[in-house]
Amino acid sequence: EMKYTLVLVRHGESTWNDENRFTGWYDCPLSESGLKEAQAGAELLKNEGFTFDVAYTSTLKRAIKTLWIILEENNLMYIPIINTWRLNERHYGALQGLNKQQTVDKHGKEQVLVWRRSYDIPPPALDESSEYYPGNDAMYANVPKDELPKTESLKLTEDRFLVEWNENLVPLIKSGKKVIIAAHGNTLRALVKHLDGISSDEITGLNIPTGVPLVYELDEDMKPIAQDDAIAPLTGKYLGDLEKVRERIGAVAAQTK
Ligand code: 3PG
Repeated sequence: EMKYTLVLVRHGESTWNDENRFTGWYDCPLSESGLKEAQAGAELLKNEGFTFDVAYTSTLKRAIKTLWIILEENNLMYIPIINTWRLNERHYGALQGLNKQQTVDKHGKEQVLVWRRSYDIPPPALDESSEYYPGNDAMYANVPKDELPKTESLKLTEDRFLVEWNENLVPLIKSGKKVIIAAHGNTLRALVKHLDGISSDEITGLNIPTGVPLVYELDEDMKPIAQDDAIAPLTGKYLGDLEKVRERIGAVAAQTK
């Protein structure tokens, strides 16, 4: 029987999503439509009567703001929020800041698809002198330098995220706390890959839409329980109009035609 409910949500569209630039750890804000997406996601959760005891998010403002909008709409701004770099978006290395379509024009569609969606092939690494190297950012002053990435594959993202998942999130969920995680496209791809046991081949076809709450029902062993309306290969269920969700998923993939 169902034991735990876990809600995941990718932040609303960011300004660099709108400009079609590789973002990674760059701390850009939500775009105007991203703010509206976050509000719409918040209302979907409210209409379905969700409530939460603890919230988890990254150190990046596009995810934090999305979470704040959800908590405010649901009168939950008083619950604890844990911000951790381990929930940050996958670091896009030397691609950060580049336009995605221009990168296709330069390197070809196949190579960019490998960088965006492969499991264990990272984008080209940053140089430590880069403005985008986290070791130069006060936000990560308390993180040991050898843990700060110069680039990340999905696998490296999964490895550093699962430390938080296994050490803190699983015990918290098992203790009966209702948790919401507001994070990023690729951190959530890493989490659902782990939850649903998606293969490293199949994960290359998975795209997570912005701003749409994704609800997992987990059993006592943290195994997801299949739900009606889930969109394969996920067992989690998106809230709202599923045709609109499918369109939004397609739009993420189409950022590099
Ligand atoms: C980014 O980091 O650019 C986005 O958050 C995710 O980009 P992707 O869909 O190209 O991986």
